[in-house]
Amino acid sequence: MVGRVQLQVSYWPGRKAPGMMRTLRVIFCVSTLISFVVAQPSTSWTNDPQIESRVEQLLKQMTLEEKVGQLITYSQGAPTGPGTGRSNYKEMVASGHLGSIFNLTGAAETNAMQKLAVEKSRLHIPLLFGLDVIHGYRTEFPVPLALSATWDPALVERASRVAAKEASRDGVRWTYSPMVDIARDARWGRIVEGAGEDPYLGAALAAAYVRGYQGSKLSDPESVAACSKHFVGYGAAEGGRDYNTAEIPERLLRQVYLPPFQAAANAGVATFMSAFEALNEVPASANAFTLTQVLRKEWDFKGFVVSDWNSIGELIPQGVAANHAVAAGKAILAGVDMDMESNAYGPHLAELVKSGVVPESVIDESVRRVLRVKIALGLFDHPYTEVKPDTIAPEDLELARKAAEESFVLLKNDGGTLPLRANGKTVALIGPLADDAGQMLGSWAAKGNAKDVVTLRSALTREVEAAQGHLLYAKGTEVMGSSDAGFSDAVGAARKSDIVVLALGEDAQWMTGEAGSRTRLDLPGNQQQLLEAVAATGKPVVLLVFSGRPLVLNWAAQHIPAILEAWFPGVQAGPALANVLLGASSPSGRLTVSFPRAVGQEPLYYNHFNTGRPADGADLTRPPKANNEKFLSRYVDEQNSGLYPFGYGLTYSTIAYSPAMVSAIALGAKELNAGSASLKVTAEVQNTGSRAADEVVQLYIRQTGTSVARPVRELKGFRRVTLAPGQSQKVEFTLGREELKFWNIEMKDVVESAQLTVWVAPDSTQGKPVQVNIGQ
Ligand code: BGC
Repeated sequence: MVGRVQLQVSYWPGRKAPGMMRTLRVIFCVSTLISFVVAQPSTSWTNDPQIESRVEQLLKQMTLEEKVGQLITYSQGAPTGPGTGRSNYKEMVASGHLGSIFNLTGAAETNAMQKLAVEKSRLHIPLLFGLDVIHGYRTEFPVPLALSATWDPALVERASRVAAKEASRDGVRWTYSPMVDIARDARWGRIVEGAGEDPYLGAALAAAYVRGYQGSKLSDPESVAACSKHFVGYGAAEGGRDYNTAEIPERLLRQVYLPPFQAAANAGVATFMSAFEALNEVPASANAFTLTQVLRKEWDFKGFVVSDWNSIGELIPQGVAANHAVAAGKAILAGVDMDMESNAYGPHLAELVKSGVVPESVIDESVRRVLRVKIALGLFDHPYTEVKPDTIAPEDLELARKAAEESFVLLKNDGGTLPLRANGKTVALIGPLADDAGQMLGSWAAKGNAKDVVTLRSALTREVEAAQGHLLYAKGTEVMGSSDAGFSDAVGAARKSDIVVLALGEDAQWMTGEAGSRTRLDLPGNQQQLLEAVAATGKPVVLLVFSGRPLVLNWAAQHIPAILEAWFPGVQAGPALANVLLGASSPSGRLTVSFPRAVGQEPLYYNHFNTGRPADGADLTRPPKANNEKFLSRYVDEQNSGLYPFGYGLTYSTIAYSPAMVSAIALGAKELNAGSASLKVTAEVQNTGSRAADEVVQLYIRQTGTSVARPVRELKGFRRVTLAPGQSQKVEFTLGREELKFWNIEMKDVVESAQLTVWVAPDSTQGKPVQVNIGQ
């Protein structure tokens, strides 16, 4: 007998009390076992008297030079920055002048270095080994933007736990993840590393990553300290050009850019990383407002802040420091505890203390924060890593496949082109990304190994042949190719086939991730020409887009019947894609970034403000003909809307939404602020099709009549539900103080009287509005 499981999980990422952070209601209609991992966040280390007394005992014994040593991390190798030119790590460690090393991995390798710290240094303080474990360690999961498209915090938590388990097995107890930068501009390459454009979803996922990495106890040998980065505003780089300046007014900063960081802090994240960019003319790595006022004073953050790679040294070209000594002083006084690769703290901090520029109490406080995290991780009691075989567990691969399946977003599916009916058919698989294992790993692949990747070509060949069909493969071109020498083979394969699957997209390493900004968002190289040549055969085409950002897909949207956004799916790319293409599972990802029609629309995001001249209802598909059409907030050559909006994604089934119901049509702001009132919003969703499907039910609000303008829509709740054919489910959301408050004209974070509009919808453009009055 098949059990019916209803699972309702609500996330209130901004709330602090663990009991309030989520409610979990599981109704078993038939006894059915499911495993659902939601760890209690590891916050106990922030306030543990035993840890504190150990910190103080150590601190008392430390020389100034030993203290400075704890405030430095150096890299083994220089993958993303200039490097310090230093290589005498062993002597520094043995003399207690270096407290952390990153990019050194392997139990044997880290143990050997750890032995110097623990056995040779005067105070035996263990090293902390860091690494960018961004979306998996050896078992690579889909890139973070793809993981966000799952809208599944429990899954993200489980994936991060797997990454923590594998990283810690290799001696790494500190990951520079989660990257929780809100990104509204698809030109920015690092949009791939985060959760997209929305602060509410971003906050829910930030907390999920932290819970996964840190587990319920940091001292668990399989836990790693997480690092919430890049604090803050890095994703608002002007023009989408990496490392560029960001201008973010305080209200916008607090409303949009800070919430995911605060959610990470509330979930007990052990560390933060200060960003590269100049934020409102004050570089983020010398910004006392964000690092001390917000992070320490307002949020009471007890862990430590590490700079980004050489971001203290970069205060010099940014124009606020004449030399490394001045840069070191500015950074530590602003609140950066640890210097990553600037070589500024090592040579200069002690001197700055001796000359009175930096009080020793500031150094002491930073050292306390670092030692607190090291003790909480259990490094003093268990500094070494047991050498174990480096294998991938089958259940972790299974999770990687599930994550990939949940991340794919079906953008278009005319005439039920998908799922493929491959029985006895010839399928042509064409394109440079159909069989490129390395690309599937995406950027920041830690110890991901192309040999572990199952490509689409290999998985689809197996499945098509199992269905008595036949697969023809042609590469067609390179990702950034200009030669059309492979076009004729590709077109030939298409002609011989019943259906064509085209695997096109970006180069994961070069065009996505750090320093991967683009001014064009089309298919790179001559892939568009390949697409058009293949489409000209008249065969039905399914386009798979592998990318780390939204691309401009206008031509494909007009001419290709089916388009699936596949991102970079990780080690299980092939099996996951084959399952979705052949219908073993229905696509269930939803966009967390708006897809533009033209690059000129960027930054493009759904939760924008309304103008005084909105173009609602005007026909924007043609140039304006008269003044009343022209003098609107519009482009003369393009529509305002994106091609595919935030929250959007199709399934193989059809889902019907009942009108949303609210528990009251009037509420008082006073009661909402006091937490004594809240609004329940319910809607019923029904699978009206013939296939099982997951639906991501989304709750949006708008508030008008307020002291400051509020966005045209804001996400304030979401729920992924699984629906069998014909099944319906009631989904309930709660709107309380957390969801309704905002930074008002007096810069107070409160609920104001307002006209509230509520939508329960499948994406950010749909749904029937319901009105509620919020009185005084
Ligand atoms: C990146 C960080 C990363 C660091 C360490 C920098 O270039 O901006 O995100 O954590 O390098 O590898």
